Amino acid sequence: MDAPHVVLLPFPAQGHIKPMLMLAQLLCHGAGGFNITFVNTEHNHRRLLNLIDQTAFSRRFPTLQFMSIPDGLSPEHPRTGPSLVDLFFSTSSVSKPEFRNLIVSLSQEPTCIIADGIMSFAIDVADELGIPVITFRTYSATCTWIYFHLQKLIRDGEIPVVEGNGDMDKHISCISGLENILRRRDLPNICRLEPDNPILQFYITQASKMARASALILNTFQELETPIISHLQSIFPTVYTIGPLHLHTLIDSPSKNSSSLIQIDESCIKWLDSRHPKSVLYVSFGSVIVLSHDQLLEFWYGLVNSGKPFLWAIRPDLVVDNEPNKIPDELKLATKERGCIVSWAPQEDVLSHQAIGGFLTHSGWNSTLESITFGVPMICWPMIVDQLVNSRCVSEIWKVGFDMKDTCDRSTVEKLVRDLMEDKREEIMESTVKNARLAHDSILEGGSSHGNIKKLVQDIISIHS
Ligand code: UDX
Repeated sequence: MDAPHVVLLPFPAQGHIKPMLMLAQLLCHGAGGFNITFVNTEHNHRRLLNLIDQTAFSRRFPTLQFMSIPDGLSPEHPRTGPSLVDLFFSTSSVSKPEFRNLIVSLSQEPTCIIADGIMSFAIDVADELGIPVITFRTYSATCTWIYFHLQKLIRDGEIPVVEGNGDMDKHISCISGLENILRRRDLPNICRLEPDNPILQFYITQASKMARASALILNTFQELETPIISHLQSIFPTVYTIGPLHLHTLIDSPSKNSSSLIQIDESCIKWLDSRHPKSVLYVSFGSVIVLSHDQLLEFWYGLVNSGKPFLWAIRPDLVVDNEPNKIPDELKLATKERGCIVSWAPQEDVLSHQAIGGFLTHSGWNSTLESITFGVPMICWPMIVDQLVNSRCVSEIWKVGFDMKDTCDRSTVEKLVRDLMEDKREEIMESTVKNARLAHDSILEGGSSHGNIKKLVQDIISIHS
């Protein structure tokens, strides 16, 4: 009998493709020995295959094949910033029938489909074709749990959250497990939309479709989010917490680029090698959010005025109204002295480098988890979706950083950088070290994530036989 065949469908963005491809690698190479079909959109398929060393990759993962479907957007579409949401609607309409056609054309019938929660149209396709489907939410358990309360938040009048109405710090009481934690300002930013807004409605539909999947996979670890994971078990009979995925040794190392859609610039590692231990602040805002030129300058002045060395990943499309000629000479000069700027960094290698002492992050889930596992405390400047929740957990639950949500001025940046790197470092280091240890323990033999991966593999084998 053939090995089980698993089809994986990520949402077409870097922060989703990376954990999904790491899971694919685990199932293919180590834990499962399964046949894997990894379905990207055509746009990302091209980007990924341009950067990957295809020969080395297929030698390492011989039973993993990449396939692609259209995403329904024009090649020139930016697919970042506010226009990222266009992908929600275009994938549900255009990619859905294409995905169905692809599934029925496969030479080996899939044992199961693992689809990103945002690509919940895959659940309709799987149901129609009688194929078991597991949903993989690439966010934290906490944010996933909140998404199941959107209708309740509307009924309770908590949505829309109105920015600047003075009540932003009021606690939300209708989400079990988060009563004394979450304030209005910490809800995902879609909660700032009117209840009938199509984007908010998309998230509501997505949550109800996800609940039809046979199980939920999360890239988190039991010890980090225990109470919320128990709550999620009231919706999903099985929740596999299998993270932090990037720690599993069977996965391709980040510097081999296998999941990067953007060319990595390794030169910053040499620069880091020349720095004192724990002296450098790493700054990155992930792959999709965008800044205005004014925001860029506020961050830049804050960093320079803090006097700390910094390494900053500035994507070519990070700044919407980019005006390179309008960068003041004083900033350029100070950066030359104690800064390093690259367009895209080997982030995991950076975070695990001995010179790194802190991370100024947009609080994307992958960045948050990577920072936790490498024991690097954070300053969080969240902007969209789950980032607002992650930053609250970082500061209030896990106590591994500070949340500067909703403010972006040079003096706040300067103060928080000093707090993180010096003045208030002691407050958070104990917890930072403890969480890093728990993360590493979870993937060792006998650890919670290690056990859940074994269980996931076993469950897929039993569907197959
Ligand atoms: C998106 C959303 O913005 C985020 O909120 C959600 O949790 C996941 O999807 P993204 O903005 O890309 O993700 O952020 P993040 O989740 O942090 O993922 C970025 C990934 O890119 C990380 O794994 C990080 O290691 C990698 N990265 C980032 C690099 O390799 N180099 C860089 O310079 C910056």
